[in-house]
Order: sequence, then C-alpha cells, then structure tokens
Amino acid sequence: MGRSGGEAAGPVLGLVASAGGGVERWLRPGLALPLARAGWRLAITLTPTAARWLEPEAAALAALTDLPVRSTSRLPGEPKPHPVPDAFVFAPATLNSIAKLALGIGDNQALTVLAEALGRRAPMVVLAQVGPEQSRHPAYRGHLSVLREAGVRVVGGGPEEVLRELAEVAPFVAFDNGA
Ligand SMILES: Cc1cc2nc3c(=O)[nH]c(=O)nc-3n(C[C@H](O)[C@H](O)[C@H](O)COP(=O)(O)O)c2cc1C
Repeated sequence: MGRSGGEAAGPVLGLVASAGGGVERWLRPGLALPLARAGWRLAITLTPTAARWLEPEAAALAALTDLPVRSTSRLPGEPKPHPVPDAFVFAPATLNSIAKLALGIGDNQALTVLAEALGRRAPMVVLAQVGPEQSRHPAYRGHLSVLREAGVRVVGGGPEEVLRELAEVAPFVAFDNGA
C-alpha cells in the first residue's frame, strides 16, 4: 500500500492504545519514543479509559509529535485534527477493544479511526494484551480471525515485537536501534 500523507514531515503512524495493564508505564518509553525517533510522525489516539490512565504522561506523549493526542471526537464543523495515517499500531489492545474492532463498533474515537483503517486495509499491527481467562472467551478466537483475514498482524509479547512487525508491514522508515 502506498503512503497517503505527511510527505514533508515523514510518514504518519496512527498509534492507538487501549486500557491494558501497564500501558501507563511502557507506551511512551517502549513504543512512542522509538517510533518517533525512527521518523514516524505520530497520530496518537487513546480510548477514554487509556486516556485517564495516561493523564500523568499526557505532556510527555504530546511532546513526541506535532499532532494533538486525541481521545474524543471532533465537532462536526471542526477540521480533522489528524491526517490519514500510512500505517497503524494498536497497542495494547484489550479484549474489549479487539471485540469492538472486529465487530466494527466505533463508540469512541480510537475505535472509529481503527475501524476506518481496517476498511481501507491500511497496514496494521495489533498487540493483543489478553489474559488466559479472557482469551478463552468463546468469541475471542473468531474476533482474531476477522482481523487476520483483513490483513492485520496480531502479535503477543511486548513493544519490541510490535516494532519488528511494523518494520515488515510498513517499511517506510529505517529503524536505528541506536538512535
Ligand atoms: C489494572 C487493570 C489492568 C487491566 N489489564 C487488562 C489487560 O491487560 N487486558 C484487557 O483486555 N483488559 C484489561 N483490563 C480491563 C480493561 O481496562 C477494561 O475492559 C476496559 O473497559 C477496557 O477499555 P478500552 O478497551 O476501551 O480501553 C484491566 C483493568 C485494570 C483496572
């Protein structure tokens, strides 16, 4: 898939986070910072719960990008705050938000941008952060299948695995681990 925006300032990455435990500790240092250093222009969108958990990180996250960090929708008359991203990382993805994405439920801004991206078949890496009991929910496997059939790379593990997968599905920037 070709790049769709942000030519002057670098390729745009839609970085979406939901309320998985620990996101408040690792999202910025483990994922957002290396992505920004690699040359991605970050369009960050948080679920409402993740935004609450990440409140103490808000200023530091915002400092990594020239685009606003979003968790609410715009008013109908307002311009879109983010350009259309070239690729997406959804990390961490909770059981709740994975289900909503697979079903096309866009009841918050984070799920709305992800659903549109899935419809466009934009390159997307999803870090599923789901516990053992949650993963045995009878609908979970089907939800993962829906995402994979749409071309989404679903990974477990941590931010390092996300960075590896992203470099494969969206090799628009050169990762330099020493940067
Ligand atoms: C401390 C804490 C840690 C949580 N960790 C996870 C998790 O790792 N995975 C998950 O699916 N849900 C987890 N949850 C539950 C979600 O936060 C909850 O389902 C929430 O409604 C998800 O909202 P969101 O998907 O809109 O961000 C956790 C909840 C708390 C309070």
